[in-house]
Amino acid sequence: MAAGVTPRAQDKPKACVIGWPVSHSRSPLIHGYWLDQLRIEGSYERAEVPAADFSSFMANFARLGYSGGNVTLPHKEAAFHHCVRATETACCLKAVNTLWFEGGQLQGDNTDVDGFTAALDQEAPGWDLVPGHAVVIGAGGAARAIVYALKQRGLRRILVVNRTKARAASIAAMFGQPVEVADESALQQSLTDAALLVNTTSLGMAGQPALSIDLAPLPLEATVSDIVYIPLETELIKAAKTQGLRAVPGISMLLHQAVPGFERWFGVRPAVSTELRSLIEAEIRAAR
Ligand code: ATR
Repeated sequence: MAAGVTPRAQDKPKACVIGWPVSHSRSPLIHGYWLDQLRIEGSYERAEVPAADFSSFMANFARLGYSGGNVTLPHKEAAFHHCVRATETACCLKAVNTLWFEGGQLQGDNTDVDGFTAALDQEAPGWDLVPGHAVVIGAGGAARAIVYALKQRGLRRILVVNRTKARAASIAAMFGQPVEVADESALQQSLTDAALLVNTTSLGMAGQPALSIDLAPLPLEATVSDIVYIPLETELIKAAKTQGLRAVPGISMLLHQAVPGFERWFGVRPAVSTELRSLIEAEIRAAR
């Protein structure tokens, strides 16, 4: 872990999203909207940094004038190792998506965790009070953050189902009880008595095959969540709505995970409003 240099106090706060590629990132639009709405003199930009340059970029991060930033693929794990301190969540996941300075030292958090639960709390209040287990499809970085979020929320049983079963097993081993691995062939059956189904894979994303699953066995009180936000309404979300289930699309998590970073860099906790959501939705529709 490395130390940093705090940007000069008189500078306007400046943050960025660091990734490779980063041109698709909606974060500049989200933070730009909040900066305008809250009349804050600050900025948020894209930093396109290939993996080979990431360490030298981080070594210069404060000198470049940044108060912090978001980290996206493929740097989330590498960024964790640059932090002098990280939240308990980030230490557990060994991956950060949000960086900021305290006393000149780089701090890191993984706001995908709270972003996921905040989205469900806003769009499907009481989702965690419905009796039944959670079924999480996928076993990548997003699945790790979501399984952690569900465990922290106190869910009694979390089933992880993945194409590559060994990756699901490694998530179960990482978190222990109440996380279990389920076979892909048992997915359909696992929906009976489930309170929550989450897709954390890229299936359903524009250009990818759809997630093929029949939601009929899910109880009517169940919630279906998808982290995919392009298209805004995946086939999974459409099917959930058609069946009268509560459905939380990926755009909601995208917006909520951005809140803590903005507060750290610019000093005000912003709201995830209907207006912001409509703006980002319109931009995603226009880009397609
Ligand atoms: P991230 O870190 O964004 O979650 P990732 O680590 O690449 O991304 O994980 C993507 C997830 O989508 C994985 O669970 C992957 O399954 P595998 O572990 O078997 O690779 C899943 N996934 C991607 N394409 C898939 C497909 N065509 N069918 C089934 N699962 C798929």
